[in-house]
Amino acid sequence: MRITIVGTGYVGLVTGTCLADMGNDVVCLDVDQGKIDILRSGGCPIYEPGLVDLIHRNVKSGRLHFTTDKKPAYEQAEVIFICVGTPSTGDGRVDLAMMVQVAEDIGNAIESADGKTGGDANERRAKIIVVKSTVPVGTNVRIKQEIATRTEKHFRMASNPEFLKEGTAIKDFKRPDRVIIGVEDDGTGDRLRDLYEPFVRQGNPIHVMDITSAEMVKYASNAMLATKISFINEIANLCESYGADIDQVRRGMCADRRIGNQFLYPGLGYGGSCFPKDVLACVSMGSEVNMETLLLSAVHEVNHRQRQAFIKKITRHFNDHLSGKKIAFWGIAFKPGTDDVREAPSITLMIALLNRGAKVVAHDPVAHETCRQVLGDQIAYVEEPLSALDGADALVVCTDWDEFKHPDLGEIKKRLKSPVIFDGRNLYRRRVMAEYGFTYYCVGREPVVPQDATM
Ligand SMILES: NC(=O)c1ccc[n+]([C@@H]2O[C@H](COP(=O)([O-])OP(=O)(O)OC[C@H]3O[C@@H](n4cnc5c(N)ncnc54)[C@H](O)[C@@H]3O)[C@@H](O)[C@H]2O)c1
Repeated sequence: MRITIVGTGYVGLVTGTCLADMGNDVVCLDVDQGKIDILRSGGCPIYEPGLVDLIHRNVKSGRLHFTTDKKPAYEQAEVIFICVGTPSTGDGRVDLAMMVQVAEDIGNAIESADGKTGGDANERRAKIIVVKSTVPVGTNVRIKQEIATRTEKHFRMASNPEFLKEGTAIKDFKRPDRVIIGVEDDGTGDRLRDLYEPFVRQGNPIHVMDITSAEMVKYASNAMLATKISFINEIANLCESYGADIDQVRRGMCADRRIGNQFLYPGLGYGGSCFPKDVLACVSMGSEVNMETLLLSAVHEVNHRQRQAFIKKITRHFNDHLSGKKIAFWGIAFKPGTDDVREAPSITLMIALLNRGAKVVAHDPVAHETCRQVLGDQIAYVEEPLSALDGADALVVCTDWDEFKHPDLGEIKKRLKSPVIFDGRNLYRRRVMAEYGFTYYCVGREPVVPQDATM
């Protein structure tokens, strides 16, 4: 199939590359000339394990192309996947400006196409416009209207929300738990089912449904996952107040098969480019129809407070005197396996400490560049995790990268000016921290404070 992917971000680039890997002829289109230049020169604008090799393989085979030239990219495609960003506006609604721009471009391209693909009245050949970006319910209708105001030729709409996770995106795309396809007619459902068939050979389901329901599946899924995180964080905070240990509570609770053990880890709350904006979008969708989404408003608020509570742990330890203190950070990315720092808890924490006069030194295996785009040189970036600790007044662990899980604790203690660790991911055992003489703060477990601890 001839496919055009619009937007070569985390979703678009993975989608395009994986579809090319199955033998499709794929053009990835972006308005960001810098990204396209990087891709054309053999690089990759994002960090995603395994992606570079897969891109190289498919470029070499002639199935994967990158362009900024909209017209031919839209004209030649049988299927267009829209994968542009849908960020949050300040008030929680979804900014659809990029989606609308794409719709205008597609409408104009279909209008001027010669009929080979665009504008074919034959259902088997009509161009399919697939919305893969996460968009509020009703957006497909709006996009269809935007296109239809520019052309009277035939095209089909579909909603195909994406569920890949940064860090395991290729595996997630190639072996999805499920594929959701929302359509207005059976023929379009069949054509997209054919496209996805190679990815579900193991029997995972392709659910074909109406477009509105497909749009809602994405929000319902992300809202559920975010709810689990806020739930366990709230229980963790109760544990802390009553002297219970969230790790033990979690184990006891998750043994119940009705509850399960996925996505129930306490920490600094959810971040990234999806959960924060998608939960707010649900709240906003509710208010559009005069419905108060009580639970999801609370999920958002709990998440916000989780970061604030952790900042309070740090400031309280230093009696609110952070001016001139040097704080080392391990982990900047919002989760391991990605360089994405959008809505990362680390950024909130760093800004809070910088505002109080602290100096921040940070190490992340892959996220220095993306962090620099947000914080510039307000913080120092260190290539080697232990070097970040030299002379620091404390270590803050923000991301649970594997390499932070079994560090040389003796060396950490030697390098820190004072042996204090704030562990936002509960990576270390309290007993071991006590043996080494660390002052150790974590989440949902009592802190370890040595008898002779001095500030
Ligand atoms: N990142 C994830 O893990 C993830 C997972 C599932 C769903 N989603 C959803 O997928 C969508 C894309 O997310 P992302 O993280 O890949 O975004 P991103 O910001 O990484 O990438 C979006 C790309 O679209 C490009 N773009 C913007 N306007 C364009 C236009 N008119 N024509 C061509 N290209 C254009 C941008 O330059 C950018 O490269 C969002 O709706 C997001 O909510 C993201």
